[in-house]
Amino acid sequence: MDHADGSGRRALKKAYVKSYGCQMNAYDAARMADVLGAEGYAPTDSVDEADVVVLNTCHIRERAAEKVYSELGRLRVLKNERTAKGLDTRIVVAGCVAQAEGAEIQARQPAVDVVVGPQSYHRLPDLLARSRERRVVDTEFPVEDKFDHLPRRRTLGASAFLTVQEGCDKFCAFCVVPYTRGAEVSRPVAKVLAEAEKLAEGGVREITLIGQNVNAYHGAGSDGAPVGLAELVQAVAKIPGLARIRYTTSHPNDFDDALIRAHAEVPALMPYLHLPVQSGSDRILAAMNRKHTGDAYRRLIDRIRAARPDIALSSDFIVGFPGETDADFAETLRLVRDIGFESAFSFKYSTRPGTPAADRTDQVTESVMAARLAELQALLDSRRYAYQRAAAGQVFDVLVEKPGRYPGQVAGKTPHLLAVQFDAAPHHIGSVVPVRIIEAGTNSLFGQLVSEAAAA
Ligand code: 5AD
Ligand code: SF4
Repeated sequence: MDHADGSGRRALKKAYVKSYGCQMNAYDAARMADVLGAEGYAPTDSVDEADVVVLNTCHIRERAAEKVYSELGRLRVLKNERTAKGLDTRIVVAGCVAQAEGAEIQARQPAVDVVVGPQSYHRLPDLLARSRERRVVDTEFPVEDKFDHLPRRRTLGASAFLTVQEGCDKFCAFCVVPYTRGAEVSRPVAKVLAEAEKLAEGGVREITLIGQNVNAYHGAGSDGAPVGLAELVQAVAKIPGLARIRYTTSHPNDFDDALIRAHAEVPALMPYLHLPVQSGSDRILAAMNRKHTGDAYRRLIDRIRAARPDIALSSDFIVGFPGETDADFAETLRLVRDIGFESAFSFKYSTRPGTPAADRTDQVTESVMAARLAELQALLDSRRYAYQRAAAGQVFDVLVEKPGRYPGQVAGKTPHLLAVQFDAAPHHIGSVVPVRIIEAGTNSLFGQLVSEAAAA
């Protein structure tokens, strides 16, 4: 029995942590689960039995933020039901909506006990304790470094995220990140390496170095001088046990020659790159404050492909930025055709209060945005499906990450980040094995282990 069982033993408390949005939020959510774990909260996937519920929120687009409030409405009902049974429930709103809206969240939804920003979640135990007296808000950027106050990571899979850089100084005209996550800060090299070594000792085979603008990384090296992402990647590649390194997300203007060279020279650096371009129109790129042109992006991709010809490219696109005309949108389609992205994310422009683009009067109508998004997505999808179909018959090294969808199967990723399912025993989880692709579905590939001997 989970709660007071009458025997006088301390009941096991449970925490439900749900994350929205980007990979950094996923990392933060896992670390919040670690913080709560160190306080005796076991993780649960079932929200009705949770003593603490954490929503790690995303503020990037309006819909993402609105989702939080509808989820909170449901949680309030749950909290009332549990209170009626004599069970305490603490509701925590963390992440970027917490940072952006602070106490307004509790004004809109009084069932929320704690609002905590992305830089303060190491203080969660203290905030939860204080919330028994009154509702608490902590959206500071504290002087202490949260990473120094986080407990050891508990659940480790074959692949892990590692935050190396936070915040963004780019101020793209549509984006809330520079406001919610603050200025760019890089963790020192030694701290990143220490965390990476612990991950590798714990069985992690692949590390994705994450940051809002990770290729602006400039953490202090052993002599205090700043070190760039390329050098950091090289240092992480030397850690015994690690087979694969990735990084995300990047801005084209911070892509230096050293990083391009690293793609040619570091075998562990995987041939996959997510490099958002947002638009193909120079006029819109300028209005977005991206500070690069479509051709500058094309030239950069040429150089990256020269260094690593098989690199798979991914990107982000926004359609309907204020003032975007049919001709501007045609430029985006032209860029997509020229580059041939293997995968991509595309979004309708969403007005974010407080960003420069929000004040513009030439907003594009919803129906125009919807039509442009559909056209862009059809083009991107056709290329993605062709890429996946072309994988059939090829053999890839697959990092096996978890059990597959069906019994007897496992699931993993190719170097190009394609998801593959195949028949194999669970002891392969954590290994890199050669797999021949048999069939290409729309979202996943099905394969066959090339040989048991080779997979040892
Ligand atoms: N509207 C639509 N998409 C946005 N993004 C960021 N801000 C907005 C916005 N206001 C997209 C960008 C970015 C990705 C993470 O989200 O494409 O690269
Ligand atoms: Fe936002 Fe631009 Fe910074 Fe990316 S580079 S986080 S889109 S401001």
